[in-house]
Amino acid sequence: MPARDQTTRDRTSMHNGNRLKIGLFGSNCSSGRAVTLVPERWSGSWQDNLRLAQMADAAGIDFMLPVARWKGYGGDTDYQGATLETMSWASGLLAKTTCMTVFGTVHAPLFHPIIAAKEFVTADQIGEGRFGLNVVCGWNEGEFEMFGATLRDHESRYDYAQEWLDAVKLAWSSEAEFDFDGAFLKLRKVRAWPKPFGGARPLIMNAGASATGQSFAIRNCDALFMSTRRASLATYEKNVRDVKALARQEGRELDFYTVGVITCRPTMAEAEEYYRHAVVDCADWNAVDSILAMKDITRANHAPDDFARLRNEQANGMGGLPIVGDPDFVARELATLSEAGLNGIGVSFVNYLDELPYFCDEVLPRLERRGLREKR
Ligand SMILES: Cc1cc2nc3c(=O)[nH]c(=O)nc-3n(C[C@H](O)[C@H](O)[C@H](O)COP(=O)(O)O)c2cc1C
Repeated sequence: MPARDQTTRDRTSMHNGNRLKIGLFGSNCSSGRAVTLVPERWSGSWQDNLRLAQMADAAGIDFMLPVARWKGYGGDTDYQGATLETMSWASGLLAKTTCMTVFGTVHAPLFHPIIAAKEFVTADQIGEGRFGLNVVCGWNEGEFEMFGATLRDHESRYDYAQEWLDAVKLAWSSEAEFDFDGAFLKLRKVRAWPKPFGGARPLIMNAGASATGQSFAIRNCDALFMSTRRASLATYEKNVRDVKALARQEGRELDFYTVGVITCRPTMAEAEEYYRHAVVDCADWNAVDSILAMKDITRANHAPDDFARLRNEQANGMGGLPIVGDPDFVARELATLSEAGLNGIGVSFVNYLDELPYFCDEVLPRLERRGLREKR
């Protein structure tokens, strides 16, 4: 297996020795990941994001990962209708924090690769090597329509993304003017300076779920975000083991992350009660049904039980792993993910600013005592 050089390892380890990385996912969007009507739902405003990032940075949270969303999902709240563009958001947060990695989430087909490469370098210079790239290909036709762009068929999306990322990496590394001759991209006499901070390229991740998406991640990325349904430890282990084995066949090594939604309260009963209130009783079911319809999931083409399960999963963090309980329970669940071979998790809360302090005070020390995170 090719050894990672020191600086690349620094970036993939997010500049610390935490065995289980914890990040915040989705705070750049109104309502975050909770499709709910509750009045305390997340604003997604810049001021709240900045306060959150500084609080998280001081508490030792490892990263923030935004969602690239261009068009709200409707419903009673216009779920994720107000979103901060992720590269500007990341650059602002990197300027105002000191330790955490901040990702930009970028649709390859919507950003010209040479502009994108320069945006990434700019953010990376601002953050002195703390910028990370989440490259996505897109799936939502309505969003592409708004750009006058066509969503390619699934396989071609990844063919295009391959060329796009090759061009970005070349812009990051080439010490001379270069041409790029691809099937999709023809670039002439490209000059791209400065280069990423400190001589190593930014950490790159992808969240492909299909075999094509995962093999894209294996070929090109340092980390794969897998969406994880509630399952047994054995199932998580198997998912990670299978992709690791495929990577090994290609002489590649990558890290594995997932996403989850945390409701942590002093007792199990309080956590379960709030979860039921926010994510079931007060779910924005009209938005949930609109999201499902975009994925062609309707009452008409699914069995009632199946449809009900998918609705509940969507209301709760758009399918992220629900972790609902007291601090001991939450810490145990997170430890289980680590045992299964996951390197980290991006989590969300109904209201990140209100809920993060309790999580950091109660859950992080428990993970430290288990040896999963460095003592602070
Ligand atoms: C953690 C995570 C973050 C994602 N972020 C975005 C995003 O911001 N924008 C987007 O259009 N798709 C996003 N996706 C969707 C993936 O990029 C991908 O399209 C999806 O997992 C389906 O996989 P496939 O492309 O291999 O079929 C995300 C998925 C996950 C699991």
